[in-house]
Amino acid sequence: MTKRVLLIIGGGIAAYKSLFLIRVLARRGIKSTVILTKGGSEFVTALSAGGLSGEKVYTDLFDLTAEAEMGHIELSRSADLVVVAPATADLMAKAAHGIANDLATTTLSATDKRTLYVPAMNVRMWENAATQRNVKTLTDDGAFMLGPDEGEMACGEFGEGRMAEPEAIAETIEKILKGDTTLDGLKGPKPLAGKKALITAGPTREAIDPVRYLSNHSSGKQGYAIAAALTRLGAEVTLVSGPTAIDPPACAAFVPVESARDMEAACHNALPADIFIAVAAVADWRPDGSADKKIKKGKSGIPALKLVENPDILAGIATAKNRPELVIGFAAETNDVVAHAKAKLTKKGCDWIVANDVSGDVMGGDHNAMIVVTAKGEDAFPRLKKEDAARRLAEKIAEHFA
Ligand code: CTP
Repeated sequence: MTKRVLLIIGGGIAAYKSLFLIRVLARRGIKSTVILTKGGSEFVTALSAGGLSGEKVYTDLFDLTAEAEMGHIELSRSADLVVVAPATADLMAKAAHGIANDLATTTLSATDKRTLYVPAMNVRMWENAATQRNVKTLTDDGAFMLGPDEGEMACGEFGEGRMAEPEAIAETIEKILKGDTTLDGLKGPKPLAGKKALITAGPTREAIDPVRYLSNHSSGKQGYAIAAALTRLGAEVTLVSGPTAIDPPACAAFVPVESARDMEAACHNALPADIFIAVAAVADWRPDGSADKKIKKGKSGIPALKLVENPDILAGIATAKNRPELVIGFAAETNDVVAHAKAKLTKKGCDWIVANDVSGDVMGGDHNAMIVVTAKGEDAFPRLKKEDAARRLAEKIAEHFA
């Protein structure tokens, strides 16, 4: 069956490339229905877009003839994929915030199809924090993002901002239409769609009395980054987190907990899942009974702290009746990292263990050098930012399920 894309041409100098795109797609047997934004029509005309696509070009939400022929809702559903090229900072900002005040943005918010954004803008605009936030929101919400490429731009500056070339866009579109979304340069593939992931993160707090507790230096950054990375790959993520100072990532469910026992209960409550990743630095011990009133200094001298062992959440999930298919533990070690990690893999009954040397700045820091130990061997990632390490781990998980 002939495939069709709904091509939204935004207002940027790269709009001329989208005219080529229509031809390149047609050569591959893919038809284009074009929406030309007001900005887009400053750069290319509806006449040329229509001449190339061989179809009516839609230009305005309040085009009554178009509404009578094909309403904007129907238009948004008429294609197999929505492509925004060039995707301007303005179009992406509106789409990320659900603003629907013209035909293009109304179509983007009404569509039930996947959307591929092909950004093109000045390098500073691309690097701008707001643009990057919007890009993240869009990809977190399931959109694909191709490029931008690095190179010289129409404005004379050099950097990331050039729109991808029509051939590359067409190739990506073809692959997405075939269901292949694991492409280089394409942000937002969803190979884990339909999979449920349960992740623990952060420290736990073990109460001594209502104001004091035992805990550790875990920041939650690595676990949150993994939750975000798996969400971006399409997994439905439940993140069970001890107290942290960072904002939770966008994921299906966020369950804040305090103690190891709370965390354990929340995890079992969240089963069944396909993937379990124990990233939390669970306190191994807790005070044997916490006082319900603040312990006062006084006659009884310095209180002795008697500890009891906390439940091992990872081992419990790995042996649960409804055990997830892939159970991944973390091993925080300061010496003989891989050997200790291997011992934990067996002892806790998990499928993979991520060995972490925490003798440096890993705990609380922004970087990590993971060694993923599986039955097949060891995969040592270089020292990476926690977000990048999370992405690599998420990709490895996606490969496992592929
Ligand atoms: N873990 C857990 N519940 C616990 C302790 C640890 O789920 N009560 C999980 C951690 O989330 C991690 C793995 O077990 O995925 C290993 O944690 P780690 O602290 O490295 O090991 P421990 O089992 O605590 O052993 P040790 O402290 O002796 O190294």
